[in-house]
Amino acid sequence: MKELNDSLPSATALFSAAARAAHVLVDNPPHLIRDTDAIAVCELFEPSPLAFQLAFPSAPVLAAARASAVIRSWFAQSIIAQTGLDQLVVLGAGLDTSIAAPSGQTWVVDTAAVLAWRAELFGLAAIHDTAHQVPVDLASGDLSAALTDAGLDITRPAVVVALGLSMYLTGAQFQALLKRLAVLAPGSVLVFDALAPEADADEAGRAYAAAVTAQAGGREPWRWRPNGEALSQALAHAGWNADIRAEAEVVSSDFRRANPQLPVMRLVQLIHARTGVAGTLNADESAG
Ligand SMILES: C[S@@+](CC[C@H](N)C(=O)[O-])C[C@H]1O[C@@H](n2cnc3c(N)ncnc32)[C@H](O)[C@@H]1O
Repeated sequence: MKELNDSLPSATALFSAAARAAHVLVDNPPHLIRDTDAIAVCELFEPSPLAFQLAFPSAPVLAAARASAVIRSWFAQSIIAQTGLDQLVVLGAGLDTSIAAPSGQTWVVDTAAVLAWRAELFGLAAIHDTAHQVPVDLASGDLSAALTDAGLDITRPAVVVALGLSMYLTGAQFQALLKRLAVLAPGSVLVFDALAPEADADEAGRAYAAAVTAQAGGREPWRWRPNGEALSQALAHAGWNADIRAEAEVVSSDFRRANPQLPVMRLVQLIHARTGVAGTLNADESAG
Protein backbone atom coordinates (compact mmCIF):
# COMPACT_ATOMS: atom_id res chain seq x y z
CA MET A 1 0.00 0.00 0.00
CA LYS A 2 1.17 3.49 -0.88
CA GLU A 3 0.69 6.25 1.64
CA LEU A 4 -1.43 9.23 0.66
CA ASN A 5 0.79 11.98 2.04
CA ASP A 6 2.24 15.41 1.22
CA SER A 7 5.29 14.06 -0.57
CA LEU A 8 3.58 12.69 -3.68
CA PRO A 9 5.37 13.68 -6.92
CA SER A 10 2.10 15.26 -8.13
CA ALA A 11 -0.96 15.28 -5.88
CA THR A 12 -2.96 16.97 -8.64
CA ALA A 13 -2.23 14.08 -11.02
CA LEU A 14 -3.53 11.59 -8.45
CA PHE A 15 -6.65 13.63 -7.69
CA SER A 16 -7.38 13.92 -11.44
CA ALA A 17 -7.12 10.13 -11.67
CA ALA A 18 -9.52 9.80 -8.72
CA ALA A 19 -12.01 12.16 -10.38
CA ARG A 20 -11.96 10.10 -13.60
CA ALA A 21 -12.13 6.82 -11.70
CA ALA A 22 -15.19 7.94 -9.75
CA HIS A 23 -17.25 8.93 -12.77
CA VAL A 24 -18.69 5.48 -13.57
CA LEU A 25 -19.09 4.70 -9.86
CA VAL A 26 -21.06 7.77 -8.76
CA ASP A 27 -22.49 9.50 -11.84
CA ASN A 28 -25.37 8.42 -14.05
CA PRO A 29 -25.20 7.20 -17.63
CA PRO A 30 -24.53 8.31 -20.30
CA HIS A 31 -20.95 8.27 -18.96
CA LEU A 32 -18.41 10.31 -20.85
CA ILE A 33 -15.48 8.03 -20.05
CA ARG A 34 -14.86 4.73 -18.29
CA ASP A 35 -11.42 4.76 -16.65
CA THR A 36 -11.05 1.46 -14.82
CA ASP A 37 -7.25 1.71 -14.80
CA ALA A 38 -7.62 4.89 -12.75
CA ILE A 39 -9.65 2.90 -10.20
CA ALA A 40 -6.79 0.39 -9.94
CA VAL A 41 -4.24 3.20 -9.43
CA CYS A 42 -6.33 4.81 -6.67
CA GLU A 43 -6.73 1.49 -4.89
CA LEU A 44 -2.95 1.31 -4.40
CA PHE A 45 -3.22 4.11 -1.83
CA GLU A 46 -4.27 4.09 1.79
CA PRO A 47 -6.56 5.91 2.20
CA SER A 48 -7.70 5.67 -1.42
CA PRO A 49 -8.10 9.11 -3.02
CA LEU A 50 -11.26 7.63 -4.53
CA ALA A 51 -12.77 7.26 -1.04
CA PHE A 52 -13.46 11.02 -0.88
CA GLN A 53 -15.27 10.93 -4.22
CA LEU A 54 -17.32 7.88 -3.17
CA ALA A 55 -18.23 9.31 0.23
CA PHE A 56 -19.12 12.84 -0.91
CA PRO A 57 -19.94 12.69 -4.66
CA SER A 58 -22.06 15.84 -4.52
CA ALA A 59 -19.61 17.95 -2.50
CA PRO A 60 -19.15 20.97 -4.82
CA VAL A 61 -15.36 20.77 -5.15
CA LEU A 62 -15.36 17.00 -5.80
CA ALA A 63 -18.25 17.15 -8.27
CA ALA A 64 -16.62 20.08 -10.10
CA ALA A 65 -13.27 18.27 -10.24
CA ARG A 66 -15.03 15.19 -11.61
CA ALA A 67 -16.96 17.16 -14.23
CA SER A 68 -13.86 18.96 -15.47
CA ALA A 69 -11.69 15.84 -15.49
CA VAL A 70 -14.14 13.71 -17.45
CA ILE A 71 -15.31 16.42 -19.85
CA ARG A 72 -11.76 17.32 -20.86
CA SER A 73 -10.79 13.63 -21.31
CA TRP A 74 -13.89 12.95 -23.38
CA PHE A 75 -13.29 16.11 -25.45
CA ALA A 76 -9.68 15.10 -26.16
CA GLN A 77 -10.57 11.50 -26.87
CA SER A 78 -13.29 12.60 -29.34
CA ILE A 79 -10.76 14.73 -31.22
CA ILE A 80 -8.14 11.95 -31.22
CA ALA A 81 -10.72 9.63 -32.78
CA GLN A 82 -11.70 12.24 -35.41
CA THR A 83 -8.11 12.93 -36.49
CA GLY A 84 -7.18 9.31 -37.19
CA LEU A 85 -3.55 10.30 -36.54
CA ASP A 86 -1.30 7.50 -35.33
CA GLN A 87 1.21 9.53 -33.28
CA LEU A 88 -0.11 10.70 -29.90
CA VAL A 89 1.87 12.91 -27.50
CA VAL A 90 0.49 13.48 -23.99
CA LEU A 91 2.06 16.47 -22.24
CA GLY A 92 1.89 16.66 -18.44
CA ALA A 93 0.62 13.09 -18.64
CA GLY A 94 0.72 12.48 -14.88
CA LEU A 95 -1.23 9.29 -14.14
CA ASP A 96 -3.65 9.71 -17.02
CA THR A 97 -5.02 6.38 -18.28
CA SER A 98 -7.96 7.89 -20.19
CA ILE A 99 -6.15 9.19 -23.27
CA ALA A 100 -5.17 6.61 -25.85
CA ALA A 101 -4.53 6.41 -29.57
CA PRO A 102 -6.68 3.81 -31.35
CA SER A 103 -3.54 2.73 -33.20
CA GLY A 104 0.09 3.73 -33.47
CA GLN A 105 2.40 5.00 -30.78
CA THR A 106 2.10 7.22 -27.72
CA TRP A 107 4.70 9.41 -26.02
CA VAL A 108 4.05 10.58 -22.45
CA VAL A 109 5.86 13.69 -21.28
CA ASP A 110 6.17 14.85 -17.69
CA THR A 111 8.89 15.48 -15.13
CA ALA A 112 11.30 12.60 -14.54
CA ALA A 113 9.96 12.15 -10.99
CA VAL A 114 6.34 11.89 -12.12
CA LEU A 115 7.16 9.50 -14.97
CA ALA A 116 9.09 7.22 -12.61
CA TRP A 117 6.13 7.29 -10.19
CA ARG A 118 3.72 6.57 -13.05
CA ALA A 119 5.81 3.55 -14.13
CA GLU A 120 5.97 2.25 -10.55
CA LEU A 121 2.23 2.64 -9.90
CA PHE A 122 1.21 1.21 -13.27
CA GLY A 123 3.49 -1.78 -12.61
CA LEU A 124 1.88 -2.36 -9.20
CA ALA A 125 -1.62 -2.00 -10.68
CA ALA A 126 -0.77 -4.36 -13.59
CA ILE A 127 -1.56 -1.66 -16.17
CA HIS A 128 0.04 -2.44 -19.49
CA ASP A 129 1.61 0.83 -20.64
CA THR A 130 3.42 0.81 -23.97
CA ALA A 131 3.87 4.60 -24.14
CA HIS A 132 7.38 5.98 -24.60
CA GLN A 133 8.39 7.98 -21.54
CA VAL A 134 9.88 11.40 -22.32
CA PRO A 135 11.10 13.23 -19.21
CA VAL A 136 11.15 16.96 -19.97
CA ASP A 137 10.57 20.08 -17.91
CA LEU A 138 7.88 21.64 -20.08
CA ALA A 139 8.61 25.07 -18.64
CA SER A 140 11.99 25.22 -20.35
CA GLY A 141 13.12 21.91 -21.87
CA ASP A 142 13.78 21.18 -25.53
CA LEU A 143 10.60 19.23 -26.20
CA SER A 144 10.99 18.61 -29.92
CA ALA A 145 14.54 17.26 -29.51
CA ALA A 146 13.40 14.99 -26.68
CA LEU A 147 10.44 13.70 -28.69
CA THR A 148 12.57 13.10 -31.78
CA ASP A 149 15.15 11.24 -29.67
CA ALA A 150 12.30 9.11 -28.30
CA GLY A 151 11.20 8.16 -31.83
CA LEU A 152 8.46 10.64 -32.77
CA ASP A 153 8.53 11.30 -36.52
CA ILE A 154 8.12 15.07 -36.74
CA THR A 155 7.77 14.91 -40.52
CA ARG A 156 4.35 13.28 -39.99
CA PRO A 157 1.44 14.93 -38.12
CA ALA A 158 0.80 14.13 -34.49
CA VAL A 159 -1.97 14.80 -32.04
CA VAL A 160 -0.79 16.48 -28.85
CA VAL A 161 -2.95 16.44 -25.73
CA ALA A 162 -2.10 18.61 -22.71
CA LEU A 163 -4.83 18.33 -20.07
CA GLY A 164 -4.46 20.04 -16.71
CA LEU A 165 -1.08 21.50 -17.70
CA SER A 166 -1.35 25.09 -18.99
CA MET A 167 -2.19 26.55 -15.57
CA TYR A 168 1.06 25.24 -14.05
CA LEU A 169 3.24 27.18 -16.51
CA THR A 170 3.56 30.95 -16.79
CA GLY A 171 2.03 32.64 -19.84
CA ALA A 172 5.51 33.12 -21.32
CA GLN A 173 6.42 29.47 -20.71
CA PHE A 174 3.21 28.23 -22.30
CA GLN A 175 3.67 30.58 -25.25
CA ALA A 176 7.20 29.18 -25.75
CA LEU A 177 5.78 25.65 -25.56
CA LEU A 178 3.18 26.51 -28.24
CA LYS A 179 6.00 27.74 -30.47
CA ARG A 180 8.09 24.60 -29.89
CA LEU A 181 5.07 22.50 -30.82
CA ALA A 182 4.43 24.49 -33.98
CA VAL A 183 7.42 22.71 -35.59
CA LEU A 184 5.23 19.61 -35.82
CA ALA A 185 4.19 18.58 -39.32
CA PRO A 186 1.27 20.43 -40.94
CA GLY A 187 -2.04 18.89 -39.92
CA SER A 188 -0.88 18.25 -36.36
CA VAL A 189 -3.53 18.81 -33.72
CA LEU A 190 -3.30 20.21 -30.20
CA VAL A 191 -5.93 19.80 -27.49
CA PHE A 192 -5.64 21.43 -24.10
CA ASP A 193 -7.56 23.18 -21.35
CA ALA A 194 -6.96 26.56 -19.77
CA LEU A 195 -8.52 28.28 -16.78
CA ALA A 196 -10.25 31.60 -17.27
CA PRO A 197 -9.16 34.46 -15.00
CA GLU A 198 -11.09 35.23 -11.82
CA ALA A 199 -12.94 38.11 -13.51
CA ASP A 200 -14.31 35.84 -16.25
CA ALA A 201 -15.32 32.96 -13.96
CA ASP A 202 -18.76 32.69 -12.41
CA GLU A 203 -19.40 32.14 -8.73
CA ALA A 204 -19.18 28.33 -8.99
CA GLY A 205 -15.92 28.62 -10.95
CA ARG A 206 -14.43 31.02 -8.41
CA ALA A 207 -15.44 28.78 -5.49
CA TYR A 208 -13.87 25.75 -7.20
CA ALA A 209 -10.67 27.68 -7.98
CA ALA A 210 -10.40 28.81 -4.35
CA ALA A 211 -10.91 25.25 -3.04
CA VAL A 212 -8.28 23.75 -5.37
CA THR A 213 -5.80 26.50 -4.55
CA ALA A 214 -6.31 25.91 -0.84
CA GLN A 215 -5.78 22.15 -1.28
CA ALA A 216 -2.89 21.93 -3.77
CA GLY A 217 -1.81 25.50 -4.50
CA GLY A 218 1.17 25.37 -2.13
CA ARG A 219 3.06 22.64 -3.98
CA GLU A 220 1.55 22.99 -7.45
CA PRO A 221 0.51 26.64 -7.84
CA TRP A 222 -1.54 27.93 -10.75
CA ARG A 223 0.49 30.47 -12.72
CA TRP A 224 -1.54 31.34 -15.81
CA ARG A 225 -5.24 31.99 -16.31
CA PRO A 226 -5.68 33.67 -19.69
CA ASN A 227 -8.93 35.12 -20.98
CA GLY A 228 -10.19 34.01 -24.39
CA GLU A 229 -8.53 36.90 -26.16
CA ALA A 230 -5.10 36.29 -24.60
CA LEU A 231 -5.43 32.61 -25.43
CA SER A 232 -6.37 33.33 -29.05
CA GLN A 233 -3.45 35.71 -29.41
CA ALA A 234 -0.96 33.26 -27.88
CA LEU A 235 -2.15 30.51 -30.23
CA ALA A 236 -2.22 32.66 -33.37
CA HIS A 237 1.20 34.10 -32.57
CA ALA A 238 2.66 30.59 -32.39
CA GLY A 239 1.02 29.52 -35.67
CA TRP A 240 -2.01 27.61 -34.39
CA ASN A 241 -5.56 27.94 -35.75
CA ALA A 242 -7.78 27.39 -32.77
CA ASP A 243 -11.32 26.84 -31.69
CA ILE A 244 -11.92 27.75 -28.04
CA ARG A 245 -15.01 26.42 -26.28
CA ALA A 246 -16.35 26.76 -22.76
CA GLU A 247 -16.41 23.45 -20.84
CA ALA A 248 -20.14 23.94 -20.22
CA GLU A 249 -20.86 24.08 -23.96
CA VAL A 250 -19.37 20.84 -25.15
CA VAL A 251 -21.43 18.12 -23.48
CA SER A 252 -24.90 16.99 -24.46
CA SER A 253 -28.07 18.08 -22.70
CA ASP A 254 -28.82 14.36 -22.04
CA PHE A 255 -25.63 14.14 -20.01
CA ARG A 256 -26.49 17.32 -18.10
CA ARG A 257 -30.05 16.18 -17.39
CA ALA A 258 -28.85 12.80 -16.09
CA ASN A 259 -26.19 14.40 -13.89
CA PRO A 260 -27.51 17.51 -12.16
CA GLN A 261 -24.92 16.96 -9.39
CA LEU A 262 -22.15 17.92 -11.85
CA PRO A 263 -22.00 21.71 -11.79
CA VAL A 264 -22.08 23.83 -14.92
CA MET A 265 -19.41 26.38 -14.07
CA ARG A 266 -17.70 29.08 -16.06
CA LEU A 267 -13.98 28.52 -15.57
CA VAL A 268 -12.51 25.94 -17.94
CA GLN A 269 -11.82 26.66 -21.61
CA LEU A 270 -11.22 23.75 -24.00
CA ILE A 271 -8.98 24.34 -26.98
CA HIS A 272 -8.74 22.40 -30.24
CA ALA A 273 -5.99 23.78 -32.48
CA ARG A 274 -4.26 22.80 -35.69
CA THR A 275 -1.01 23.87 -37.22
CA GLY A 276 -0.14 24.49 -40.85
CA VAL A 277 -3.71 24.66 -42.09
CA ALA A 278 -5.13 27.90 -43.45
CA GLY A 279 -8.37 29.27 -41.95
CA THR A 280 -9.97 28.65 -38.60
CA LEU A 281 -11.57 25.47 -37.37
CA ASN A 282 -15.30 25.40 -37.59
CA ALA A 283 -17.60 24.05 -34.92
CA ASP A 284 -18.25 20.83 -36.87
CA GLU A 285 -14.57 19.92 -36.59
CA SER A 286 -14.64 20.25 -32.80
CA ALA A 287 -15.84 17.62 -30.40
CA GLY A 288 -19.32 17.89 -29.03
C1 LIG B 1 -3.19 18.30 -12.83
S1 LIG B 1 -1.97 17.15 -13.29
C2 LIG B 1 -2.73 16.54 -14.80
C3 LIG B 1 -2.25 15.18 -15.14
C4 LIG B 1 -2.96 14.56 -16.35
N1 LIG B 1 -2.78 15.33 -17.56
C5 LIG B 1 -4.43 14.37 -16.07
O1 LIG B 1 -5.25 15.04 -16.71
O2 LIG B 1 -4.74 13.56 -15.20
C6 LIG B 1 -0.66 18.20 -13.91
C7 LIG B 1 0.50 17.44 -14.53
O3 LIG B 1 1.37 18.37 -15.18
C8 LIG B 1 2.70 18.04 -14.86
N2 LIG B 1 3.54 19.24 -14.97
C9 LIG B 1 3.34 20.43 -14.36
N3 LIG B 1 4.37 21.27 -14.64
C10 LIG B 1 5.21 20.58 -15.46
C11 LIG B 1 6.45 20.90 -16.09
N4 LIG B 1 7.03 22.10 -15.93
N5 LIG B 1 7.05 19.97 -16.86
C12 LIG B 1 6.47 18.74 -17.03
N6 LIG B 1 5.30 18.38 -16.45
C13 LIG B 1 4.68 19.30 -15.67
C14 LIG B 1 2.62 17.54 -13.43
O4 LIG B 1 3.78 16.80 -13.07
C15 LIG B 1 1.35 16.72 -13.48
O5 LIG B 1 1.58 15.40 -13.86
